[in-house]
Amino acid sequence: MANLDLPTVRMFLIEVAKEAGLIITRAGQSQVASTNKKNGTDIVTETDQEVEAHIAWRLKDRYPTFGFLGEESYKSGTKVLDKPTFIVDPIDGTSNFVHHFPAVCVSLGLVVSKRPAVGVVYNPFDDELWAAVQGGGAYMQKGGGQVQKLPLYMTPLESLQSACIGIEWGSDRDGPNFELNLKVFTTLVRSTRTGGRFVNSLRGTGSAAIAICRTAAGQQDMFWECGCWVWDVAAAWCILSEAGGIMVDGHPGNWEPPIDNRRYLAVRPATTGQKEVVEEFWSTMGDQRSLYGPP
Ligand code: IPD
Ligand code: CA
Repeated sequence: MANLDLPTVRMFLIEVAKEAGLIITRAGQSQVASTNKKNGTDIVTETDQEVEAHIAWRLKDRYPTFGFLGEESYKSGTKVLDKPTFIVDPIDGTSNFVHHFPAVCVSLGLVVSKRPAVGVVYNPFDDELWAAVQGGGAYMQKGGGQVQKLPLYMTPLESLQSACIGIEWGSDRDGPNFELNLKVFTTLVRSTRTGGRFVNSLRGTGSAAIAICRTAAGQQDMFWECGCWVWDVAAAWCILSEAGGIMVDGHPGNWEPPIDNRRYLAVRPATTGQKEVVEEFWSTMGDQRSLYGPP
């Protein structure tokens, strides 16, 4: 890590993310065909593959000794190693992309010793960029305007009840993963009179990376998902930590989950209350658990 110039990596990743963004917005001007991966809720388009090929070429050309792990070229069981490794999602929010819903991003992370070191997330439709370097703070820029330090808002986290929480349904629509989602979502929204937590609101925007960046900015209080992948979170995790947020296990108990945990609970920067809302959130699960975990 000592010889690694992380700010230079960040600048380069921003350049590459914007190139990728051009490919995505051009393709998004017409109808986008998709094919199923696991099922009809887990899809891929030719643009995902084209964008990843472009990013892989650019990153491997500039940093040939670094590892590369991208969603579209991922081989099942591959583990993240200690050496500096780019973790790439060419399009996070593919379902949004196909539906022309503009919450779509390129997610480019660098992890070193399996910890987030650089993160760049770019939504080309809204021209919204989030970026961070370990130890250097997190920033966002919209429409080429002023660069703003994250978090944009910083208040105490009062309780789960006042929280706006990002969630995703994921691609399992039966079995233990689906049952856990049902239990957690209904417990969160149900009135306290009938045993729930009566939270302010749940939001599902279809891109884990963007949802975690919004959490880093203080625009939503938390984000929870079991089942998403390391490429959905690696870049945004760096942005969240550098803004002062925390990432813990999506299941109760582990305050320092591995990068490829596949179960994540992100909590926004706050003057007080982070630990308390995590424990309150974990308590909604009772004894139920998902089947997801690190490879
Ligand atoms: C998906 C999105 C979605 C999350 C899924 C991810 P993709 O990524 O981040 O919000 O719920 O778990 O796989 O398929 O659009 O790259
Ligand atoms: Ca993707």
